[in-house]
Amino acid sequence: MHRHLIVMSADQHFSFCIAYLNRGYDTVNKKTIAILTSGGDAPGMNAAVRAVTRAAASNGIKVLGVRRGYNGLLREDFVSLNLRSVSDIIHRGGTVLFTARCPEYNSEEGVRKACDICKKHSIDSLITIGGDGTFRGARDLSRHSIQCIGIPGTIDNDIGCSDYTVGFDTAMNTALQMVDKLRDTAESHERCSVVEVMGRRCGDIALQTGIAVGATAILVPEVSYDFNRDVIERILYTQKIGKKHFIVIVSEGIGGVEKMARLIEEKTGVEARSTILGHVQRGGPPSLRDRLLASYMGAHAVDILLNCSDSRIVAMNNCSVVDYPIEKALAMTGTFDFDLYKTALEISV
Ligand code: F6P
Repeated sequence: MHRHLIVMSADQHFSFCIAYLNRGYDTVNKKTIAILTSGGDAPGMNAAVRAVTRAAASNGIKVLGVRRGYNGLLREDFVSLNLRSVSDIIHRGGTVLFTARCPEYNSEEGVRKACDICKKHSIDSLITIGGDGTFRGARDLSRHSIQCIGIPGTIDNDIGCSDYTVGFDTAMNTALQMVDKLRDTAESHERCSVVEVMGRRCGDIALQTGIAVGATAILVPEVSYDFNRDVIERILYTQKIGKKHFIVIVSEGIGGVEKMARLIEEKTGVEARSTILGHVQRGGPPSLRDRLLASYMGAHAVDILLNCSDSRIVAMNNCSVVDYPIEKALAMTGTFDFDLYKTALEISV
């Protein structure tokens, strides 16, 4: 199943909307679905909740919002969602359904209990918005014959089957704004600013933000590094050819920015300050791209459950929204863009 991102004229757009609303399906009859957000929140989760609710409600499906992720599922903490109850959330960061980690669910007993609760409430399918932990939880439930559809929602962009995840673009834009501010003060004092951005195992935020801020060095978990060669020598070399201030972007998965700043001062004589951006990157209104991605993915998730009964993960590949069987999706590993990394280094001298 593919949903292409296309550019349309106003007339084409109107006809498309009418055709979309009147689209006929050979539908699998679903009466009730539940939706939850789980793991770390990500800007755009609300836009996805809205899209799912509206697409489902337009097809006569009852939607239950589950509060606080799998925790809420085990506690039967449901709230009824309809066309109007998801108004005015598309622009809001965080998740109106709340989110939580749930150790209790991570056991066979917990999954069985969740399955019984779905059956008790006649929940035909569960839509989960989150990261790989959230999808593993969905896969476990799907093994108990509950259809689960996953929508990638995490700022880390670390879902193997998808080029992009909901929240990634906003997080990068937040990091970009923050580093631009740090740059002003680094420039005024002719200092080096060492900045840690989020991303436990995935360096995408660091790489793309690093390019956008013109970082002298970018350290990511996917690329092994030598601090002297990749940071100290780059600072010294670029200083020799006229640079007066420096930005070093470090992925959370590498960490240690305070120590790095001290080493930079010692070995280059350039004053250095460290900053950990932290959770600020998870908040704020979702960017246009995240709202769009969440909306497409949310509508696509409902398409899937109207058309088939197996469990799948929605993904964005080559500008198309597609989907994969859940087991296959979980086995897919993302590829770090080494060419882009090389480019970043080439143009940051
Ligand atoms: O997965 C998103 C993320 O923000 C990571 O970048 C970070 O390592 C983690 O969540 C932080 O989790 P918590 O909010 O539980 O501290």
